[in-house]
Amino acid sequence: MHGARPPTRHRYERVAHANTNRKRDARRRPKDYFLQQLVGKGVRVDPKPLSFKNPDSKITCVALKYRTTDELPEMYDKPLLKLMYEGSLEEIREKVAPESRVANAQNANGETVLMKCCRRALYTTSRSPLAVVSLLLKSGADPMVCCDSGKNVLHDLFWSAKPPPPDVLEAMETMVDMLHESTGKEGLLELMLSEDKHGYTPLDYVVPEQQPNWRKVVDTVVAWAASDAEHDEAFSCVTGPPGSQGSSQTLSERVVSNLELVTEAGSTVADFMRDMEPADVRVVAQLCARRCSFLVSDCSDPDAAIIAVSPAFVDRTGYEPEDVLGRNCRFLQGPGTSVQQVDRIRRALATRSTADVSLLNYRKDGTTFTNRFLLTPLRAAGQVRYYVGIQNCPDVIADDRRRNVARLRREGIDAGGWIDDEDEPSTSAKRGAPSSPAAPDAKRRKEGCAIC
Ligand SMILES: Cc1cc2nc3c(=O)[nH]c(=O)nc-3n(C[C@H](O)[C@H](O)[C@H](O)COP(=O)(O)O)c2cc1C
Repeated sequence: MHGARPPTRHRYERVAHANTNRKRDARRRPKDYFLQQLVGKGVRVDPKPLSFKNPDSKITCVALKYRTTDELPEMYDKPLLKLMYEGSLEEIREKVAPESRVANAQNANGETVLMKCCRRALYTTSRSPLAVVSLLLKSGADPMVCCDSGKNVLHDLFWSAKPPPPDVLEAMETMVDMLHESTGKEGLLELMLSEDKHGYTPLDYVVPEQQPNWRKVVDTVVAWAASDAEHDEAFSCVTGPPGSQGSSQTLSERVVSNLELVTEAGSTVADFMRDMEPADVRVVAQLCARRCSFLVSDCSDPDAAIIAVSPAFVDRTGYEPEDVLGRNCRFLQGPGTSVQQVDRIRRALATRSTADVSLLNYRKDGTTFTNRFLLTPLRAAGQVRYYVGIQNCPDVIADDRRRNVARLRREGIDAGGWIDDEDEPSTSAKRGAPSSPAAPDAKRRKEGCAIC
């Protein structure tokens, strides 16, 4: 060691420079992977680099967004951050009420309280930091802003994401999901691809070897982006563009007149859509737009009698609305229907959970079909009010529901469980796997079945 000459300043600089280049190349990998995946799935991406400096960008620097000092959001201080980190959800809800503009509070560098809370949610394992992020977004926190150096909420998120993987991954996925919900696909892609003042996108801050989570999160975003394109088109058929029928209309009011459903005499689609949670309105609208076969029942009915039928159900099963309305749907089952799967459905109903099962059903003419069935609760005014049962549910809807359950749980809302056939794969077909007939089961569990 004694004989070794200390490196000259010049040498240090060269080494530092080489390291920077190496790091920069490694960092580019996640972003290149993301772009390749998007293009591979047919998602159109603007080839121009996105940056807050670009006038077409929807991302604005906080300092530039507000023209007058009156418009500027609150500055956050230590007591406000302490409240966000340690306060109860009730206290925070009161503080960030939309008219207070606290949800958009920022510091002198334009870093927002949303960025701070997202970062913290990666390191604190309890649910409340995620619930705070959700509350901020619902109270008007704008995720499409960046700080003075061009970093947006995702720069912070990817930069901070370090193992341990399961917790961090779950928190990252949750937050990306919340942002997706708040900004839509376009906004999320823009956040993912927007460069800061050094020319780095959020993914460029990932150190792939240290943060194995990035690929999972990127794959999730790519899948949303690909399915959303299809989804958006179908959805706009039943909703019309926002504000097209009067901006004061709620989403549920906008979709009601466009939904094709047959309801019980004396009730209307508007009745059961009243006060329904937006995520649930969206599911019903998607199902109608995609011409899915589904039924709706009222939870207050002890025998889950059907109150609405989609036209596709009539086409697929041969049962007319008058055969179905006011009855329980167990008449679709028959001798070959798996008892275990029906048991799962029963359990889901009893615990206000979602059931995602595959079982043998019978059409009116006695022919059979394998029903990839999804039964999921719908909420109105915070309570589970209805159940929708979807025959041969498309994966995209099932995935959407799974995310919704996760989101409700994070918000501390009792979302019930997710009951599927994962635990006993041999008894039934899994979603996405080729279908196989359910095991024959001669014994009917229930008297009064229409088939046997
Ligand atoms: C809205 C709704 C739709 C349903 N659709 C189906 C269906 O398509 N196929 C099926 O086998 N069971 C379906 N079911 C389940 C049965 O109606 C019933 O709940 C299940 O057989 C368990 O209850 P049971 O033990 O009283 O028969 C549906 C239930 C509800 C609430």
